[in-house]
Amino acid sequence: MGRPKPKHTSLARGGRTEQETLARPAPSSRETLRFSLHAHALHTRAATFRSERRRAMALAFDEFGRPFIILREQEKKTRLRGLDAQKANIAAGKAVARILRTSLGPKGMDKMLQSPDGDVTITNDGATILEQMDVDNQIAKLMVELSRSQDYEIGDGTTGVVVMAGALLEQAEKLLERGIHPIRVAEGYEMASRIAFDHLERISQKFEFTADNIEPLVQTCMTTLSSKIVNRCKRALAEIAVKAVIAVADLDRKDVNLDLIKVEGKVGGKLEDTELIYGIVVDKDMSHPQMPKRIEDAKIAILTCPFEPPKPKTKHKVDIDTVEKFQTLREQEQKYFDEMVQKCKDVGATLVICQWGFDDEANHLLMHRNLPAVRWVGGVELELIAIATGGRIVPRFQELSPEKLGKAGLVREKSFGTTKDQMLYIERCANSRAVTIFIRGGNKMMIEETKRSLHDALCVARNLIRNNSIVYGGGSAEISCSLAVETAADRHPGVEQYAIRSFADALDAVPLALAENSGLPPIDTLTAVKAQQVKESNPHCGIDCNDVGTNDMKQQNVFETLIGKQQQILLATQVVKMILKIDDVISPSEY
Ligand SMILES: Nc1ncnc2c1ncn2[C@@H]1O[C@H](COP(=O)(O)OP(=O)(O)OP(=O)(O)O)[C@@H](O)[C@H]1O
Ligand SMILES: [Mg+2]
Repeated sequence: MGRPKPKHTSLARGGRTEQETLARPAPSSRETLRFSLHAHALHTRAATFRSERRRAMALAFDEFGRPFIILREQEKKTRLRGLDAQKANIAAGKAVARILRTSLGPKGMDKMLQSPDGDVTITNDGATILEQMDVDNQIAKLMVELSRSQDYEIGDGTTGVVVMAGALLEQAEKLLERGIHPIRVAEGYEMASRIAFDHLERISQKFEFTADNIEPLVQTCMTTLSSKIVNRCKRALAEIAVKAVIAVADLDRKDVNLDLIKVEGKVGGKLEDTELIYGIVVDKDMSHPQMPKRIEDAKIAILTCPFEPPKPKTKHKVDIDTVEKFQTLREQEQKYFDEMVQKCKDVGATLVICQWGFDDEANHLLMHRNLPAVRWVGGVELELIAIATGGRIVPRFQELSPEKLGKAGLVREKSFGTTKDQMLYIERCANSRAVTIFIRGGNKMMIEETKRSLHDALCVARNLIRNNSIVYGGGSAEISCSLAVETAADRHPGVEQYAIRSFADALDAVPLALAENSGLPPIDTLTAVKAQQVKESNPHCGIDCNDVGTNDMKQQNVFETLIGKQQQILLATQVVKMILKIDDVISPSEY
């Protein structure tokens, strides 16, 4: 027998100070491994171990060139292989999808999540729910990533994409159980997703809009907002979102810079008071209550230098031992203030916005000389104001000059509620197209959720400006794709046809969830709508979630963007393929 004798088998576990031990070799039997442990091999392996210390798994070869796998701290690990690994992964993915399923659609439920430090978030947004959830499992984290990438690229549809991926996994599990190889399933899914992608293009419609006719954009944003808690005033919010996007959009280049839209919120008032301001809102007020509250055609000096006399440095000392000296110092100080105010007046400023504070004396003088001022404005806001008003930030009084002043058509102070709570509105700014959406609401959670919902609506409006194709919502696009994919399956003679058919079944998950969440019998509703689509060859038939009385989503004005829907199908397929291709999971055994 040419096999080496087991000279140092006792070293296999306890002998080494490092914790690395050996797992079973890949191709040869367990026996081979046990006997291959002789001194020389150990020596060469020790070097490999050291360099591989940080890795979880390593492939090494003994002196006969036989490969074997080394698992770091093997006794503390669990390992799943083959079908078991796939099933465990599918179960994890499905669990995440099940959580989000009830949040889908206009009648979907919200989730309340509490962070470890007690902050409560109530939301319907898929990406936010998953982001705030503490997910332990790696596959579940992939689903979180999936939702995040939909949010990053499209903004809306973050719940739908996870539901779709969950359904694809569920169908894949059945196929695997029937003995179809995961790769064939993955390939079949890939083919099916391409068929669905093209079919969506075919059933999509172009929405023509101009800066004056924004109705189509508003309708689409309304569909997005209808599934949120703010749907009570979806019309108003959709209009605000569209106007904001149009204000900052470059319609020729079909580009929108969403950074120019600032979303501010203040607790109080009601949702209906939410407004769009063509300018900037700053949470500050005039430094003196008697200063004017409204300045037309304001010329704004934006200062980062303090409105006070220079302070003596610590190493200097000023001795004041007589009344005269004190008088002189006081006069000096007043002269400083006077000169500063005069300098601002000379260059023509009618409003001073200051990063630093100033004391009562300066405040009084500013009021007296009729120069309104705002103090303690943060650096970021100061920059925004400078960009919007076309002014320059001035770091020293000496550098103040007329061309450095920012210009705004109207600066006004607005009070809120019964408390002394004011905000400064800087409107009709000279340069920028920057706008602010100012949200009002009963509590902080409501405002945060409105911000998230508006984010979805803004993204949808931006997507429509980039590509003005839409498909119909309410699950109609999915049902139509499902029918198309089902038909296409018959044309494929190979094993993939089963996967393609399963993909068609998985597409039904979205309408099923919509029906279930709206309290309709899911299977009955789906079959009825599907039959209607086939009978009337009308791809607009979807789930009548709001009980309007018609299944035609065109009549109900339920629209979604084509690129959003296509992205959902692509991303969901991609992740599911990735999960199916994993056949070996090595993880710490605590899990
Ligand atoms: N009035 C309606 N009637 C029927 N279906 C609707 C209606 N409004 C929206 N839908 C459907 O609801 C689904 C969207 O639901 P929802 O907004 O909860 O999830 P999402 O867009 O996938 O994710 P999120 O908005 O959380 O990012 C879409 O399939 C859409 O077509
Ligand atoms: Mg949505």
